Amino acid sequence: MRTVRLASPELGDEEQAAIARVLRSGMLVQGREVEAFERAVAERCGRAFGVAVSSGTAALELALRVLGIEGGEVLMPDVSWPSPAHAACLVGATPALLDVHPGEWNAGALDFARGRSASTRAAVVIDQFGVPSRHREIAAALPGIPIIEDAACAIGSTLDGRPCGSFGLVSCLSLHPRKVITTGEGGLCLTDDPRLADALRILRNHGQVTAGVFERPGPNLRLTEMQAAMGLVQLGRLDAIVERRRAVATAYRAALPDQAPGLATQALPEGATRNEQTFGVVLPPPFGAADRDALIAAMKARGVEAGRLSYAMHTLPSLHAARTEAAYPHADALVARGLALPLHTRMDDEDVAQVLQALADAWGAMLDSGPVSS
Ligand SMILES: Cc1ncc(COP(=O)(O)O)c(C=O)c1O
Repeated sequence: MRTVRLASPELGDEEQAAIARVLRSGMLVQGREVEAFERAVAERCGRAFGVAVSSGTAALELALRVLGIEGGEVLMPDVSWPSPAHAACLVGATPALLDVHPGEWNAGALDFARGRSASTRAAVVIDQFGVPSRHREIAAALPGIPIIEDAACAIGSTLDGRPCGSFGLVSCLSLHPRKVITTGEGGLCLTDDPRLADALRILRNHGQVTAGVFERPGPNLRLTEMQAAMGLVQLGRLDAIVERRRAVATAYRAALPDQAPGLATQALPEGATRNEQTFGVVLPPPFGAADRDALIAAMKARGVEAGRLSYAMHTLPSLHAARTEAAYPHADALVARGLALPLHTRMDDEDVAQVLQALADAWGAMLDSGPVSS
């Protein structure tokens, strides 16, 4: 039986040729490819400046540093890969974790407004799984608070015609292979402010203002020329990648109500489009985490790789010092009962049918037998 993979990057001969070209040139770091890639991503996201770095996590840490965040609290939604909260801790601040909206799976304006305290120094607004947050409403709810957009998952998504990656003082992208375009590892900070762009460039490069002039201690978080050359090819593929991902997601959405009744999916705010970075489904109560894990195992037995959806950061040992709310009913439900279905450009119609059939069979059997956990 063949297996439908959960994720698979879209890579071709063009990426190999671009990397080979750089290798032949002998110029492997801080050259023309990185500069061209930064310009191209900034343009695509409607920003004046792009600063390429080694990962999305590095981008978040640098964004906080150039905004002068060294303490106090940084507001962010509770559901995420832990990078935004880890970045806050790394600069000396305390993540303040907000429960998420049960339909959109991002924190909304009310959540941010409620979470604000006298210690709030910044907010990280995440476009989780490529679904845009309600950026305008959140910015209006947080007057005077610098906002970072975590668009790690969201290149190719839009809100009110504006690209994700264009919101906040600084926005951060990831180029990890699970994202819609990849350079292996990699990330970018995007901004419209020339002073922030300069500060980001200095900070990612050993704190050097110009060659050999070190202004302050800084890490080396540069992207290589090989990665940037690959990124340029990937960026050229972005529209086609998103189109294919949307076709798969549309097929899932059309079939789910009949083939797997009762499973919830992520809602899209009005005026938004999504790049379909992750397709999540959530089991209804009283099904619980053990049922979700059993469903993943049952799908695996049917040749389909599904995965757990995300993390409720308030439960992670690395974030024991975070400021938490009294309860996280929505984050806990999403993380305990959510799973990601395979979604990538290499899936053909047969793969889509195999995923839907496996889900229908496994979920149907579970509905018949009832929950093992509650
Ligand atoms: C919302 C979010 N922010 C940040 C990151 C970190 O990106 P990277 O893996 O490139 O460090 C991720 C990665 O999964 C993410 O999902």
